[in-house]
Amino acid sequence: MKDDTATITGQAHQDTAHDSAAKHVTGRAEYTDDLVEPTGTIHAYLGLSSCAHGRITGMDFTETVAQPGVLGILTAADLPGVNDVSPNGKNDDPIFAEGVVQFWGQPVFAVIAETRDQARRAAHKARIDYDVLPHALDPIAARDASMGYVTDPLTLKRGDAPAAMAAAPRRIEGRFAIGGQDHFYLEGQIAMAVPGEDDEVVLHVSTQHPSEVQHMVAHVLGVPSNAVVVNVRRMGGGFGGKETQMNLFACVAAVAAKRWNRTVKIRPDRDDDMIATGKRHDFVVDYAVGFDDDGRIRSVEGDFYARCGFSADLSGPVTDRALFHADNAYFYPDVRISSHPMKTNTVSNTAFRGFGGPQGAIVAERMVEEIAYALGMDPLEVRKRNLYQNGQLTPYHQTVQDQILPRIFDELEASSDYHARRQAVLDWNAKGGVIRKGIALTPVKFGISFTATWFNQAGALIHVYSDGSIHLNHGGTEMGQGLNTKVAQVVAEAFQCDLSRIKITKTTTEKVPNTSATAASSGTDLNGMAALDAAEQIKARLVTFVAEKWQVAPDQVAFVPGHVRAGDQMIPFAQVIRAAYMARIQLSAAGSYKTPKIHWDRTTGQGRPFYYFAYGAAVAEVSVDTLTGEYVIDRADVLHDVGRSLNPVLDRGQVEGAFVQGAGWLTTEELWWDAKGRLRTHAPSTYKVPLASDSPRIFNVALADWSEASERTIKRSKAVGEPPFVLGISVFEAINMAVASVADYRTPARLDAPATPERVLMAVERLRG
Ligand code: MTE
Ligand code: MOS
Repeated sequence: MKDDTATITGQAHQDTAHDSAAKHVTGRAEYTDDLVEPTGTIHAYLGLSSCAHGRITGMDFTETVAQPGVLGILTAADLPGVNDVSPNGKNDDPIFAEGVVQFWGQPVFAVIAETRDQARRAAHKARIDYDVLPHALDPIAARDASMGYVTDPLTLKRGDAPAAMAAAPRRIEGRFAIGGQDHFYLEGQIAMAVPGEDDEVVLHVSTQHPSEVQHMVAHVLGVPSNAVVVNVRRMGGGFGGKETQMNLFACVAAVAAKRWNRTVKIRPDRDDDMIATGKRHDFVVDYAVGFDDDGRIRSVEGDFYARCGFSADLSGPVTDRALFHADNAYFYPDVRISSHPMKTNTVSNTAFRGFGGPQGAIVAERMVEEIAYALGMDPLEVRKRNLYQNGQLTPYHQTVQDQILPRIFDELEASSDYHARRQAVLDWNAKGGVIRKGIALTPVKFGISFTATWFNQAGALIHVYSDGSIHLNHGGTEMGQGLNTKVAQVVAEAFQCDLSRIKITKTTTEKVPNTSATAASSGTDLNGMAALDAAEQIKARLVTFVAEKWQVAPDQVAFVPGHVRAGDQMIPFAQVIRAAYMARIQLSAAGSYKTPKIHWDRTTGQGRPFYYFAYGAAVAEVSVDTLTGEYVIDRADVLHDVGRSLNPVLDRGQVEGAFVQGAGWLTTEELWWDAKGRLRTHAPSTYKVPLASDSPRIFNVALADWSEASERTIKRSKAVGEPPFVLGISVFEAINMAVASVADYRTPARLDAPATPERVLMAVERLRG
């Protein structure tokens, strides 16, 4: 802790390293599996179904319980409370399958043993017999089999889309299949439950949503929430995969902990983690776009079929958000788009960075490409002609008021030298060689706020100890994104103290209750505001106290670097705190925040679901080998809007990571189920995430440093976690251009996503005819 000097660091808007950066790279950051295990800790391991859909006719655990170290088995019958971890009250998410299994890999039981290895090996000795029932795996098969929806579909509508479509000078229809994505967090799912006295249990969990884990554990144990404490210091990545998917693991650990009265840990191996937990929703989209000869969109119709899996989980809000972003950045004068959240016999899909938004946005870009190829235009020109103008309405009837994409486009076109490079790409391809190039500039406009309005609230707790050190706690969770650092910067600035004075503490349901998931990119927006509220309460008390003690008017008291100024007197911060403590001033406060101005009526499909939009654009250039289908990203230039950045270096890190993760989703990350419904891509050997060497050879990432949130967000910054993920689409579009060049751009390549080398090669062959 630095003393009371005037040279304080780590204030808002400053480049400040992630608080755990050094610990991350030296292995000293503690993740759940690193916590010291209490004496007598035992381990649970899940037993998974080996049938995509079937009635359970028998379960034989004779061999399992005979294995060394095995203490027992848990099945649905052993749960003291409910057998459900559904996050939406639909009661359709059993912890252990009961009677029927609905996907290959569904948890059916857990083995508890002295060691993790013993539990894991014993789990494979169980015999489960099934009466096999018919299954449907993908959304179209599910539609054909009348599987129905897992949750209510949504339609967004403005004007008369069919009439405008019929009246449009031109019209194109198509079908686009967009793949899902595994989260591939480096730290997998993990929970540790420590039993307490009476009904109590304390959990250490890698979760984005401690409050929900708390409530789920309480329901499953049949105890009130006040008996359950959930802690998380940090996750080794969540990306949406730990918003609800952790509930099941935490509940199994908690039930076993109470049953055996010993600490229980549960951690699946990577294969089982990939098989048994939900992923990004894949979609099949039937679209139609009407437009004029200038490339202006007149009408859009779309049906978005999503593979939701066997239960609803977050599929409602995810498929809603796909529609909210189906315009990406473009005004649709007349529009009708509908979601079809299909029930399938696959793992229940869930949140993943962008939360359905990227799947919606890429459909807009597919339509732009169709229009551009039909008219022989540069797709960028089509994009510009259709960008929203302030005052125009989205398909959900929110007025766009903060449009900054025209300036972002101008600056990015110039800084990336887009026009000259596009000409060079066209010239290169005209030579007709094996290596073809493509270049594309694509935008993002991302709506910020949870569409479930009540989630847009947060709490924080600040203690100032009598030595002047500050303890900061809030409801958000740290998953590498730098939330804790940014919130601490806000508090450091409020007190005008050095960042080193502030201790960032683990998230716990004991300090801030009823929190929302750290999701929808809103962590800093919400928790930063709540922490500022707490700090301001303490400051207000200190101002009154200082004014009295140092005999000045309250407006003569100010927080200045390292000190509090009272008239002409400069009192070191720690001295003020000590004096306030001696005067019995309360030095602790709970803050809260709720996002203003937002409302959303799902039944009419109208409202203002988003407080504001975050914008950005990227130019990607790729080289494609037309003999093998392989490609490299030669260069990417990103210009992204984070308002007045709270921490430019962390925000740039978020933009870089999101871009590469977005590119991975659309290029090499392919999920593949066989006819029996087995996920065959369940390890890095078969599922290819981008490596450092797959990132763009030249990667220029800049923040639009002139941008400022038009709403009163925390210090006029904007959310950054998810929006730049959508910019990975530029890579996909560039690959499509390179492929289309083999047929002289007569038609778009119409690649389905992901554009794996295999798919690229087949498209090249198809276009060459
Ligand atoms: N960055 C890292 N390093 N690790 C993560 O797991 N998750 C992303 C994004 N950036 C993630 C990340 C997702 S899905 C979201 S919603 C936001 O961070 C959540 O954090 P925030 O609200 O604080 O931005
Ligand atoms: Mo992020 S998908 O909202 O956790």
